[in-house]
Amino acid sequence: MPDPIVSADAGILPPGERPPFTVRQAAVGDAPVLAALRSALFLELGQGPPPEGPATFEGLAAEAFATGLQRAHCHAWLAEPELGPSIGSAALLIFPRLPTPEVPGQTEGYLVSVYTVPAWRHRGVASTLVAAAVTKARELGLARIRLHATPEGRRVYAAMGFGLRDNAMELRL
Ligand SMILES: CC(C)(COP(=O)(O)OP(=O)(O)OC[C@H]1O[C@@H](n2cnc3c(N)ncnc32)[C@H](O)[C@@H]1OP(=O)(O)O)[C@@H](O)C(=O)NCCC(=O)NCCS
Repeated sequence: MPDPIVSADAGILPPGERPPFTVRQAAVGDAPVLAALRSALFLELGQGPPPEGPATFEGLAAEAFATGLQRAHCHAWLAEPELGPSIGSAALLIFPRLPTPEVPGQTEGYLVSVYTVPAWRHRGVASTLVAAAVTKARELGLARIRLHATPEGRRVYAAMGFGLRDNAMELRL
């Protein structure tokens, strides 16, 4: 039987018609679903599963979601159809930051795990999830939201006012 999370049976409506779905803030008990959607995201991006297997990655991700949600340094959202499993996710990690002359705020968000199952794409699921995260970020008084966008994701974020920044560097440890 196919994995129900990555095969939501909703591809019967053509793009442009918007079947009903709702977006709700995730609770600690949703950690396994958030982890499964995150695993599906990386699989689709060609990154995974790691040698230890997808169960290990999902387990780790579920643990991280549960801890983050419990301690409120992670907020997450799930999109759900009227019936059936979740069809999309988004998560906002909260970080401390030091003020700059341009941006004085001392906390910021990092948006991750934005994913819509293939059958539900181009119907506003990701835009609705990201809008929920932006609303939360404003409520929390965050200075800004950062993210790293895939080519597909870029259009969604750009349409919502996110701008490009290309000076990021990293050192993997
Ligand atoms: C990127 C991704 C999250 C977008 O999800 P989505 O739910 O299809 O996004 P939306 O429907 O909100 O927006 C996508 C497009 O649908 C359009 N759209 C939104 N609502 C619509 C509606 N009711 N009818 C028709 N089109 C609609 C949007 O304008 C947008 O169009 P564009 O791409 O031509 O600009 C999804 O493709 C995905 O999960 N990709 C793989 C993982 C990934 O790349 N994640 C992003 C990580 S940064």
